[in-house]
Amino acid sequence: MKTIIVGIGGMTNGGKSTLATRLHLQIANSCLIAQDAYFKEDSNVPVDSNGFKLYDVLDALYMEKMMNNMELWKRDPERFMKEIGLRTTQESLESQVFVLIVEGFLIFNYRPMNYLYDKKYFIEIPYNICKKRRSTRVYMPPDPPGYFDGQVWPMYLKNREEMEAMMSDIVFIDGLQEKEQVLDSVYKDVMKIIEELRGKR
Ligand SMILES: Nc1ncnc2c1ncn2[C@@H]1O[C@H](COP(=O)(O)OP(=O)(O)O)[C@@H](O)[C@H]1O
Ligand SMILES: [Mg+2]
Repeated sequence: MKTIIVGIGGMTNGGKSTLATRLHLQIANSCLIAQDAYFKEDSNVPVDSNGFKLYDVLDALYMEKMMNNMELWKRDPERFMKEIGLRTTQESLESQVFVLIVEGFLIFNYRPMNYLYDKKYFIEIPYNICKKRRSTRVYMPPDPPGYFDGQVWPMYLKNREEMEAMMSDIVFIDGLQEKEQVLDSVYKDVMKIIEELRGKR
């Protein structure tokens, strides 16, 4: 049995969840962990001096819990999948490759987690498109006026700088491409890795 962990990072509304969900559907024996599921309860999210809730920081997330789940998966992917109700294909153990897809806006900023990724993608879109896409989404709680320019975008720039100072082997993806195009290029890339692993018995 072999495993690979694929990280799909990127800015808010870049298309991470869209890509990760589609990849998961197309890749046999894959599992998906989304960082959004690890946000702390609202009352535990820090507030800045302008009264803006600080969702765009690691402190707003249960990162240890998320990492524990990644490690749990790595130890026994088959068991992990069964526990969450996912089916696995019946193959010989030797050729079986299990894939964990991890998606989120801060998945490459938590240093202890970084050794876990075998492949890292980061979807990016320009400021104006990001702002436009975000304005059409309904968040809980909703973004207060001025939140994008006062909080979301500056934090994205800061987080991105931090990420790039920590890592070098990230594949950047143009999130302005059609959804199908984004999926196709990443899918082909990941399948190549899977096939290579299958060959290495
Ligand atoms: N390649 C794309 N082209 C145009 N719109 C996209 C693309 N990918 C995602 N979207 C749209 O952008 C919004 C955010 O996508 P989503 O995958 O939820 O982003 P994220 O998880 O990065 O915040 C959704 O309305 C989605 O349909
Ligand atoms: Mg998302």
